[in-house]
Amino acid sequence: MKDDRKEFAEFQIQKSLELGADPDVFESSKKLIIDLNEHAYAYQWNWFGVPVIQLPADIMATQEVIWAFKPDVIIETGVARGGSVLFMATLLQAMGNGIVIGVDIDIRAHNREAIETHPMSGRIRLVEGSSVAGETLEAVRALIPEGARVMAVLDSDHSYAHVLEECRAYGDLVTRDGYLIVADTLVGHLSAEEAPKDRSKHWSRGDEPLSAARDYLAENPAFETDPVINGKLVMSSSPGGYLRRVTD
Ligand SMILES: C[S@@+](CC[C@H](N)C(=O)[O-])C[C@H]1O[C@@H](n2cnc3c(N)ncnc32)[C@H](O)[C@@H]1O
Repeated sequence: MKDDRKEFAEFQIQKSLELGADPDVFESSKKLIIDLNEHAYAYQWNWFGVPVIQLPADIMATQEVIWAFKPDVIIETGVARGGSVLFMATLLQAMGNGIVIGVDIDIRAHNREAIETHPMSGRIRLVEGSSVAGETLEAVRALIPEGARVMAVLDSDHSYAHVLEECRAYGDLVTRDGYLIVADTLVGHLSAEEAPKDRSKHWSRGDEPLSAARDYLAENPAFETDPVINGKLVMSSSPGGYLRRVTD
């Protein structure tokens, strides 16, 4: 039997690029996500017993970039109930290396307990405070070992100004080949009527993460959008949100 792994990997890349260039599929996916939002679909999932507020496609995409990059440190802004930091810690545990630094302005006692008593807790460090406050950034930097390979996920306050500030602060910490994942970029594709109304704050086109990511890319040539991972991001909250550092 022929070893076709290389051809299969090329086939996957090709199909992902084709999918990313298909506006009809993107529109169908967007429509389905809007309908699913009526059922709070993103809130229905758990990772190892703890709620993770993500669409399944984003979990898969993040798994792929973590495996490809093999980080020593993953920073996530926006911890909520803890499922996403636990998900990434589970991958690091399986890979035998690394920590997740979870940053949130409000880590509620019951959520902290769920994270700190979880079997994956040994790979997690929590920092409470606004993700863009000077003391928070200082605390995060102090947790990063010298020479560490660093990536970041931005999933906190989704306003344009906050995400752009986060891109600048955390983009600086991401190391070469590492990812800066800007979550909830789908909102940049939604009209005011289509944008979710069930969040604590409301965002709509212009004041959302996609606009911030685009402006950050325009001002920082060290980052590019990864066309392969973004290409297959249908049924995703974060299409176009997977940025990769391509230079030091
Ligand atoms: C969408 S939830 C995060 C979901 C989580 N990443 C997951 O996948 O389960 C957003 C979180 O951002 C936090 N947040 C809001 N504003 C923030 C800020 N300025 N700095 C840090 N965290 C903030 C909220 O407290 C909330 O827990």
